[in-house]
Amino acid sequence: MVRVWAHRGCCTRYPENTLLAFEEACRYDIAGIELDIQLTADGELVVIHDEWVNRTTDGRGMVKDFTLEQLKALRIAGPEGWTEQIPTMAEVFDLLAPVCRERGLLINIELKNSNVPYEGMEEKILALAAEKGLSDYIVYSSFNPDSVRRIKQLDPTVQTGILASKLTDCCGLEASTQADALHCNVDYLDEDKLRYWTQAPIRAWNSAEPFYPYPPRGTPYDLAELEKHFVTDIIVNQPELYCPLYENKNKRQPLFLQAETAIDMRNGGYGTGHPARMTTLIVSRAPAGSTLTLLDRRYAFAVATYNDAVPPELIYSYSYDRDAAWVTYNRDYDEANFSQETYTFEKDCFFRVCLRRLDGKDIPASEAARADGILRFLAPEQATAKVRRCFAYEIANTAWKVRAATGCVKLALMADSHYTTNSFWRDTVTNLTAVNHKAPLDGVVHLGDLTDGVLPARETAIMTRRCLQDLQALGKPLLVVPGNHDSAYFSGNRNPMTPEQEQDVLYKDVLPPSAVRQPDTFWYYYDVPEHNLRMLVLFSHDYRANPRYGYPDEELTWVRQTLEATPAGWRVLVFSHCPALPEMHYWSKDIRNGTKLVELLVEYRGSQANCKVLALIHGHNHCDQVDTNHGIPIVSIGCAKMEYFPDKKPDNSVTSPRLQNHVTQELWDVLLVNTKKDTLQFVRFGAGKDRTVQC
Ligand code: G3P
Ligand code: CA
Repeated sequence: MVRVWAHRGCCTRYPENTLLAFEEACRYDIAGIELDIQLTADGELVVIHDEWVNRTTDGRGMVKDFTLEQLKALRIAGPEGWTEQIPTMAEVFDLLAPVCRERGLLINIELKNSNVPYEGMEEKILALAAEKGLSDYIVYSSFNPDSVRRIKQLDPTVQTGILASKLTDCCGLEASTQADALHCNVDYLDEDKLRYWTQAPIRAWNSAEPFYPYPPRGTPYDLAELEKHFVTDIIVNQPELYCPLYENKNKRQPLFLQAETAIDMRNGGYGTGHPARMTTLIVSRAPAGSTLTLLDRRYAFAVATYNDAVPPELIYSYSYDRDAAWVTYNRDYDEANFSQETYTFEKDCFFRVCLRRLDGKDIPASEAARADGILRFLAPEQATAKVRRCFAYEIANTAWKVRAATGCVKLALMADSHYTTNSFWRDTVTNLTAVNHKAPLDGVVHLGDLTDGVLPARETAIMTRRCLQDLQALGKPLLVVPGNHDSAYFSGNRNPMTPEQEQDVLYKDVLPPSAVRQPDTFWYYYDVPEHNLRMLVLFSHDYRANPRYGYPDEELTWVRQTLEATPAGWRVLVFSHCPALPEMHYWSKDIRNGTKLVELLVEYRGSQANCKVLALIHGHNHCDQVDTNHGIPIVSIGCAKMEYFPDKKPDNSVTSPRLQNHVTQELWDVLLVNTKKDTLQFVRFGAGKDRTVQC
């Protein structure tokens, strides 16, 4: 069968000849990777196809006129905001070495020395391959027969291939170059009687296929047909079309560096006001075997690691960790440990990394923004999390109750998850997924405060999106209610998200397409017509307003109009992050339009009303409460975050004890809405009790 090689990496979906393209190629069960090398002005081997940088980078000029440092400052635009650099040959060797050794991956190095006669290129590449211990995995090729010949003269044991367009030309040069293989254009397989002449492998290539960012065109090669023409190998831009995925590959994970920040070696926290440093503010999980590899040799880096023990004060108090990480520092960060060596995480842990420039210069924000071109984090693919024993019974029991309920809308309902880097959110997602699998749900409602919002806006947005993606993975409509932490306003953050940014983070590509939202507003509604149910999502905290808690006048107008326009006989649920009434709120007794909102909702419960508002449901208080004293059931949901802090709670509310590694670690509901019987049944998963509310 014809063997498949990745031409310049996976160069249809990623920029050619970049670490990203090579790394992607390694995910597939390919025979090898083809790449091109040139020499810099200071004699460094770099991987780039053209003699000029113009086509593939943001620079202009010839590779031979740039020093390596100058070349490294050029950027190659990749998908999804990735920024790549021209890799050195050494970096590519470091990336591919494990794959060569473990899977026998081959590397075809094409010496681009036909137009620029790079003096000493052959010696350099042979020496580097030998230094890296990879000589056995390489095939050297060139359109320059003298170069192929020279490689063989320098080391007769290495594999070579002679490059030419026509197969017959390759054949003609085989003897004089002592080439081991013929590398010809797939469109010039012009010798039918070939096997009378040579037994050498024929590796066919095609440079006319489009490269990223241009979309692929044409039809895939018929490998069986090529085999009839004696082709043994094909070098293609889209190896993924021909090869299955190769399992167990480490995957690149993005790092987000913040300029002017450093790690405090005493407590592992981050500090601001360090112009010569940049640091990852988000603490990331590093499964055993993960690596950090420096791509830009102008830098050095040092790592702080953390274990998964949760500082108790973060559970048993009302306090938010300014690092947004419920982990314990291993006291291993040291300013003296800055290094350029690849860092391997021996055990599962969490980490933060700090970088400085070797020349001691300050690091501008633009440098921090291209972190993925400076430091690469490779982590093993995370296996799907398994249900833990302490939750197994609760999953079965919850699913049983949910399955038994008929004629109702089934919604996962969660409040105040306050995601930080820790192990609990993974449990929550796993448990929710398991319940949904056993007893399919109709949707998910998150009542706000997805994260603590104590990190700067960018990091808060990244973490919020992670949570939302986890919830979206359930494949059910997801309604997000904006909370007071979601704008990253909290804890003195000087630059919270603008309302537009917050709406983007919470709603864009998240809300179901049929959710009805006017442009630039936080409030919206979503209908479940099969059950004559409308759900209104409210905005209840605006850091720009005074007082901050409450509901804008325009929102109240919208609530009235929306209720008025609700089809006759329909039922309505209203979700708000914050409670509407002062007596239900410890933090501020001044709530804009709160009482008016409740009065308005009560109006739509009377016999004259076209529809009926069943209940107002909120989070924020981190406690459970059902109030029936205000003409409409007002239901508070405890916090999904594992917190046990009974102080500062409204009268008649319940705060349930929580224990790690115990079913009470969790707290969320499946809400069963019966619009015929006007009942709300809250089936509790974890701490607390089931509740039924007759509306
Ligand atoms: O090595 C085979 C092939 O890559 C030669 O063409 O232009 O893509 O380097 P090119
Ligand atoms: Ca090539």
